[in-house]
Amino acid sequence: MSLLSQEHMLGLNGYSEQDLITILDTAERMREILNRPVKKVPTLRGLTVVNLFFENSTRTRTSFELAEKRLSADTLNFSASGSAVSKGETLLDTARNIEAMKVDVVVIRHKSPGSPHFLSRHLDSIIINAGDGRHEHPTQALLDMLTLRDKFGSLKGLRVCLVGDISHSRVALSNIIGLKTLGASVLLCGPATLIPRHIERFGVEITHNLDEAIQNSDALNILRIQLERQSTGLFPSLREYHKYFGVNRQRLDKAASPLTILHPGPMNRGVEITSDVADSDHSVILRQVTNGVAVRMAALYLLAGGRAPSPESKPE
Ligand code: CP
Repeated sequence: MSLLSQEHMLGLNGYSEQDLITILDTAERMREILNRPVKKVPTLRGLTVVNLFFENSTRTRTSFELAEKRLSADTLNFSASGSAVSKGETLLDTARNIEAMKVDVVVIRHKSPGSPHFLSRHLDSIIINAGDGRHEHPTQALLDMLTLRDKFGSLKGLRVCLVGDISHSRVALSNIIGLKTLGASVLLCGPATLIPRHIERFGVEITHNLDEAIQNSDALNILRIQLERQSTGLFPSLREYHKYFGVNRQRLDKAASPLTILHPGPMNRGVEITSDVADSDHSVILRQVTNGVAVRMAALYLLAGGRAPSPESKPE
């Protein structure tokens, strides 16, 4: 049984303020485990988690795997390349076959928005969305929020600006939902072609002027230009994008006080962010990655901990 109001983590939509606080508080406790000499607890012993990745990943996949191992779950890694997917097997058949091997939790990354929701209707396993197309990436937003909470103490009233390719970003929507739920104000900054129409209904503000965004923010979460998800040229060139929306030291130096810099990765250095910003003292980019393991441990524990057999249970 889940310790949250939701059985799965399909997105942050539907998660209450209390749910999000519980996850962040639990992640802080998980982080304490990661600082021990022996970074392992038996919490999920007996459970099996499959990491079903149909798209490439560095951070999300490795941190889920580490989180599962730190909690003593058995982990199984699946990549679409080299699997029967290349022979035409459907997502549902693949997932059902893996579940038939007695899996308890499915962590899925897929290019199709809604694929985790689809699996949740057809499988008995707990489903965690590790990124579905341009839709949501809930654990990324949670680790972003934990990193901001570490820095500022609270998200209430914090001014966070998401800069860049909002239209093609799954990180953006999960951040908007999570940040608004926890009381932050959210500003979006990018070219009009990369900001979805009607996004204001989520209670966000929009600017197309990066200098104005910098003046009105406490933190910038700089999003990658997702060239692989763009079918037509939505800005003239990367050089021009960088000129108007690239975050560099010169621009940040004009702010009244230093801004905290986040980036979910992978970064296009020299396009949306320059190296002097990415590697500066105000960058928390690697702390986001560290927090990724703790947040994923928290999500796994809160969603699946109730299914773990008690230490006394013995095979019949
Ligand atoms: N932030 C993120 O999702 O990175 P990966 O694609 O490396 O998992």
